[in-house]
Amino acid sequence: MAGHGFSHTPVEVPAVRTRYRTIQTALPVPESLPILQKLYDCESRSMHGQLPVVWDRAEGFQVHDAWGNTWIDFTSTIFVTNAGHGNAEIIDSLQAVLRKPLLHSYTYATKERADYIERLVTVTPAQFEKAFLLSAGTEATECALKLMRLQAAKAGKKRPGILCFEGNWHGRTMGAQMLSWNPAQKEWIGFLDPNIFHLPFPYPWREEAMSDPAGYFERSMAVLCAENGLDPSTDLCGVMMETFQGWGAVFYPEVFVQAVERFCRKHDLLLAFDEMQAGFGRTGRLFGYMHYGVEPDLLCCGKGAASGVPLALVLGGREIMDLPDIGSMSSTHSANPLVCAAGLANLNVLLDGGMLSRVEELGTRLHGGLRDIQRDHPSHLAHVLGRGLLAALIFNDPEGRPLSGLCDRICEEAMRRGLLLVHTGRESIKIAPPLCIEPDALSEGLQVLREVVRDEIARS
Ligand SMILES: Cc1ncc(COP(=O)(O)O)c(C=O)c1O
Repeated sequence: MAGHGFSHTPVEVPAVRTRYRTIQTALPVPESLPILQKLYDCESRSMHGQLPVVWDRAEGFQVHDAWGNTWIDFTSTIFVTNAGHGNAEIIDSLQAVLRKPLLHSYTYATKERADYIERLVTVTPAQFEKAFLLSAGTEATECALKLMRLQAAKAGKKRPGILCFEGNWHGRTMGAQMLSWNPAQKEWIGFLDPNIFHLPFPYPWREEAMSDPAGYFERSMAVLCAENGLDPSTDLCGVMMETFQGWGAVFYPEVFVQAVERFCRKHDLLLAFDEMQAGFGRTGRLFGYMHYGVEPDLLCCGKGAASGVPLALVLGGREIMDLPDIGSMSSTHSANPLVCAAGLANLNVLLDGGMLSRVEELGTRLHGGLRDIQRDHPSHLAHVLGRGLLAALIFNDPEGRPLSGLCDRICEEAMRRGLLLVHTGRESIKIAPPLCIEPDALSEGLQVLREVVRDEIARS
């Protein structure tokens, strides 16, 4: 069967029946193959390559297919369903809008939008006075790019330079790809933005970055300015950074980010965080940047903003957010009453319902379990990174070579045993259960992972 990376030949697997997992068919389920085939026939292959599970229902921290199989979900789809799959409060809020009915309003005012935006700017730190609602994360990072450049023009800067980081990723549209690192993904554009610059990332395995993180930033900044003839005060207008580097949940050292902030303040640059994966409770704080002790000017969010409906947003100060003139920035489906109602319910669940306050303790359990796995396999499992209910396992061989094939096999085998993991296609596996996961379900998932890692390393 074409259009996929994983085997689509049904395999008889041992039956699993626990409190949280059921596997009772061959996998992939033979009856699911026509559905997969329909997608491979009719849809761009760019959407394919995923584990061959056809989702039928998802509730809380479990995913069900139509043939009686149930998985513990360590993905939250892709860091989206933070409040849990099919969260009842979110569904109730959607149903209330559907029953009116009110499906769409474009930029005509609705109470749903007013109530959501007001709550959003109330519960977020004081510098975020206004929000811009969008549908996709890539729109949010593009919006921040535009705001930085409008601010550069207003401030009379000579060049609208933006600093970004090696290895970061900000979305698939053109501006977002320019901000992102991956040079191969930008080839289709045919040219590079001469005012977007990338600085080296302080990876934990870079000795010179770890021994003096602030100095590492300052030295690389000095090199960049010398190589490009830049005066930071007149030729740069902003910094865009992923709160942690996505593929491997790689956080920056705190003092590194604080040095970036000092640089921004000194040279009058806007500091923006791409909180797509980090936002809305994932790391144990409402936003991931809060671990760094800095105060960004702009936040770009999406994914977990409404735990399952397409809501993205940018938050910032009044002056910056009002730079685009009336009508000069909008998006047809943004501010949809349904997504606003869901966004408000999402905030209620995380903040008033206490879901956010569970994350730290659950995160301690998660990271403790992952470190136990690492202790068993030090020559394969090079790093366990992340915070809160977000983790990445990075598999390298003893010479530091990436073991991406091993990661593929671990994801596939975990799926056969009733556990879904985030498959990155690289030498990392990411883990991000919904924040509502029960402690014993988290432990059960960790035990499955431990056995799968052991078996797949033994087989390799
Ligand atoms: C860090 C980061 N920024 C931006 C995006 C783009 O978001 P979207 O796919 O909603 O456009 C993603 C999505 O994976 C992301 O992880």
